[in-house]
Amino acid sequence: MSEINFNGRVAIITGAGAGLGRQYALELGKRGAKVVVNDLGGARDGSGQGTSAADKVVDEIKAQGGQAIANYDNVALVEGGENIVKAAVEKFGKVDILVNNAGIVRDKTFNKMDEPTWDVVMNVHLKGAFCVTRPAFINMRENNYGRIVMTTSSSGMYGNFGQSNYAAAKLGLLGLVNVLKLEGGKYNIKSNLIGPTAATRFTEDVFPPELFAKMKPDFVAPAVLYLCSEDCTDSGMVINAAAGYYSRSAIVTGPGAILSDGVKIPSPEDIKDNWGKITSLDNPEYYYQSADMFKAFAELLK
Ligand code: NAI
Repeated sequence: MSEINFNGRVAIITGAGAGLGRQYALELGKRGAKVVVNDLGGARDGSGQGTSAADKVVDEIKAQGGQAIANYDNVALVEGGENIVKAAVEKFGKVDILVNNAGIVRDKTFNKMDEPTWDVVMNVHLKGAFCVTRPAFINMRENNYGRIVMTTSSSGMYGNFGQSNYAAAKLGLLGLVNVLKLEGGKYNIKSNLIGPTAATRFTEDVFPPELFAKMKPDFVAPAVLYLCSEDCTDSGMVINAAAGYYSRSAIVTGPGAILSDGVKIPSPEDIKDNWGKITSLDNPEYYYQSADMFKAFAELLK
């Protein structure tokens, strides 16, 4: 088995001052990457800021013999994203790897969800991905190489009570990756998503203590490192990782039902009568892009 290494590669990890991001940064640093450790240094809900979280991880990487610099910019600002990428380019010359990992939570049931609570979570996760990825993507295009990992969540993929803002933002990242995988294709820029489950301050009040102890971020890092590597040539994948378990999630489409000859408009009653067929997920199809779906659709209607 050839060893995956990141010698000569430059990696930006956002929110790398703690939890999962810290683990990715340490492991990438160990395997030769030059790492930009970005962290705003705030609380779990995004309030406050500080420099010590990022600084500490930089010290840890250096103590392992690696190379790293700290950055304290806010990913939710266009200027913040530009500064993060500028820091990488000024110090290390380029960006090869970007892990959009920074995150916050502000849970409220939807009837109590006010605009500031909605916006702050969307801004860190979804707009933050735009703010950091765009300048990084431009640099990657120039170098004909890039590996981008976004962080999604089971909350977005399946739903989680009280997390409408977070779930919407996290699944929005899948839409972003679905387009980046196409637009980055000819530049060897691969974009994928990690769906982690791990013991961090994010989940300290979610898992029972015995489970919490088993869910080390260390188990998620190998999947992220593979997605960041030259060896990974897939794009558009959602990889779940938790406590030694790894799997793929995807949006798939069931076989459906043809209820018209193309002329007759089916009635709502036809929909009702065929609901089982319409909603069946037997033998589902995965479409790499929407054009593939239209092609299959055109075949069906022939
Ligand atoms: P964490 O709270 O330990 O780490 C998140 C880091 O992001 C913090 O150090 C924080 O200071 C930083 N950050 C927050 N807002 C920022 C901003 N605007 N700019 C720069 N840095 C900022 O949480 P954890 O668990 O390590 O989360 C990492 C990612 O994984 C997040 O995107 C989270 O949504 C996601 N995730 C985590 C799960 C888990 O089980 N821990 C489950 C599903 C998703």
